[in-house]
Amino acid sequence: MVTEQQIREALTKVIDPELNRNVIELNMLRDLHIDNGNVKFTLALTIPDCPLRDQIEHDARMAVLALEGVKNVEITLSAMSEEERNRLFGKSTAPQTSDFNRIGRAVAIASGKGGVGKSSVTALLAAGLAKLGYHVGVLDADMTGPSIPRLFGLREPPLGGPNGILPPRTLRGIKVMSVNLLLPREDEAVIWRGPIVSKVIEQFWNEVVWGELDYLLIDLPPGTSDAPLTVLQTLPVAGIILVTTPQELSSMIVRKAGRMAEQLNRPILGIIENMSIFICPVCGTRHELFGPSHVEEITDAPLLGRLPIDPQLTVMEDAGAVEVYETEETKKLVKEFLKVVPPPYGR
Ligand SMILES: Nc1ncnc2c1ncn2[C@@H]1O[C@H](COP(=O)(O)OP(=O)(O)OP(=O)(O)O)[C@@H](O)[C@H]1O
Ligand SMILES: [Mg+2]
Repeated sequence: MVTEQQIREALTKVIDPELNRNVIELNMLRDLHIDNGNVKFTLALTIPDCPLRDQIEHDARMAVLALEGVKNVEITLSAMSEEERNRLFGKSTAPQTSDFNRIGRAVAIASGKGGVGKSSVTALLAAGLAKLGYHVGVLDADMTGPSIPRLFGLREPPLGGPNGILPPRTLRGIKVMSVNLLLPREDEAVIWRGPIVSKVIEQFWNEVVWGELDYLLIDLPPGTSDAPLTVLQTLPVAGIILVTTPQELSSMIVRKAGRMAEQLNRPILGIIENMSIFICPVCGTRHELFGPSHVEEITDAPLLGRLPIDPQLTVMEDAGAVEVYETEETKKLVKEFLKVVPPPYGR
């Protein structure tokens, strides 16, 4: 005989994807009746035309049906009163998008130089953190060369919810926002002046429903232009992670990005050397294609790891499957990242 307690417990697994909290915690369960294996209840959503209502209903049905002794589940969807909603969000006025967001640690991935692997490193860190169970988001702050959606194989445009823009999710549930998801065609050019770029970045922070995140990784474009400046100046980032390659030229340009962060009082949390070596797949010989490392000359911040040049990574990125790529080096990278950016909320 199924009990109310069991049903409540099963429903704690049903998450409102927009708020990242479960339906019991959100006090959505109403009028629960159990009659000889037939279960009937109402779920009061935070808003009547919640775009995720079908998903929540489906998940709730599946969770309850999975319990032993349940024959049938009847769910009625309703909406909370404004007063209940305000109580839930501790507000006297209707909630704003930013009220739904609780971002533990925002970290920018930067490098003065283009093409060194910032986006790849951002994606690999996000994937590794998500695999460990952290709630992760990626904000693509590169407006003119956005590559994050492609790496994760995302194409669908974000849904517009009543509380803001709902970022699409990757296979592992990483929430992604990028200008490329808003364009009619992936190869459409974005020709915007600095103030517009800054405004869009602020909107990505303020008007996207990120929900509760442990980590928001911000992929910066190369250089020290408006986009990096806006991110470091106006968003509450904990600090930056620098990405470089062994080439001396790279070190010189990457130092500029480091200086910019320091001038804006944002600490350099760590540095990652990408494309450090190439190991020939045929003979196993190690080649330093970009010469010896200069990483110590860039910053005193800890070296989080070195990634070799791996053609497999390029292939998987092109296929939109970066999340599946995992090596000893990427695992180490994530481990070292967690040391310098410890999980928030004591997790
Ligand atoms: N370790 C690696 N092994 C093999 N290919 C790599 C590696 N890191 C990056 N790449 C490839 O190098 C190219 C540049 O990488 P990526 O886009 O991550 O750099 P970026 O610094 O973000 O570039 P941009 O400055 O244009 O934003 C991509 O084609 C990517 O697939
Ligand atoms: Mg990039």
